[in-house]
Amino acid sequence: QKQGDKIKIGFSQAMTTDDWRKQMNNSIKIEASLRPEVDLRISDANNNIEKQIADIEKFISNKVDVIIVSPIQSKPLTAVVEKSIKAGIPVLVVDRKIDSENYTAYLGADNIEIGRIAARYIVTHSKGSGKIIEITGANGSSPAYERSLGFDQVINENIRCKVVNTIHGDWEGESVKAPLKAILLQNPDIEYIFAHNDRMALSAWETAKTIGLEKKIKFLGVDGLNSVNGGIELVKNGVLDGTILYPTGGNEALKLALKMYNKEPISKNNILNTIIIDRNNAEIIGNQMDKVNQQQAVIESQQGAIKIQESEYASQNNLVRLLSFF
Ligand code: FRU
Repeated sequence: QKQGDKIKIGFSQAMTTDDWRKQMNNSIKIEASLRPEVDLRISDANNNIEKQIADIEKFISNKVDVIIVSPIQSKPLTAVVEKSIKAGIPVLVVDRKIDSENYTAYLGADNIEIGRIAARYIVTHSKGSGKIIEITGANGSSPAYERSLGFDQVINENIRCKVVNTIHGDWEGESVKAPLKAILLQNPDIEYIFAHNDRMALSAWETAKTIGLEKKIKFLGVDGLNSVNGGIELVKNGVLDGTILYPTGGNEALKLALKMYNKEPISKNNILNTIIIDRNNAEIIGNQMDKVNQQQAVIESQQGAIKIQESEYASQNNLVRLLSFF
């Protein structure tokens, strides 16, 4: 197969500094490697909106067949996605949304539901002051908005628990430290901290530890990665009380993009499953994920063996052809 005959899929990734996005890229690459007809191109916007717009413009001018995008922020990425649709290139929006309905399909977990699950967990487990600090993701990104929406909805319906402070984080741990320390010094009787991802939840725990409050406060995060310092490990070693699984959907994204290319019917909204991970199921879920990874490794090594055989076969064929000249 020539490069030019391949199905060109352009993936505009928001950034790749954190493990969640690394895993997402990894799983989309694995899925693509199983399909020799696919030419997957990933561009990394480095969390820079202008760069992400330029990356997508480039996919449009290179006439890729399908664009996948995880937008850094909703509003500023809307126009370029609409431009792609106008140019006849279907767009699959993943994880974070844009500000209009003008895209082909969306794939991601339900972030409003994630907020609600966190709130229900706190409401049913709270035995203390009921005082909560919420730490949000970056302003302008849809999961931050939606996780807050669902969380506040459930907390506000309840009389025992109350969000007494909101810290506007930026998805990274550093953004949490100074504001949280100031708040905790004033309000040491906080019972729960809900952070919109595990990196900020870990940072909140570390901050509380500097003033000796890490055992009094309970921490919840989102993502539930099965990796070193990932949410599952943090739950297993008692740093987090719980985390809500936010699957990256990398492999599903590639499958959907191919369906879009083949003009197969798909739903506009493709919702990935989520689940609360706490001390009761962290071990089991971690083990299941390990098993899937092991099977993946077997598939990859089998693929490697097939490739070697293919190239050996090709060189033997060449030899046969060469010999037939004599
Ligand atoms: C990764 C991340 C995750 C979070 C998601 C929201 O870059 O910050 O931790 O769940 O983005 O889009």
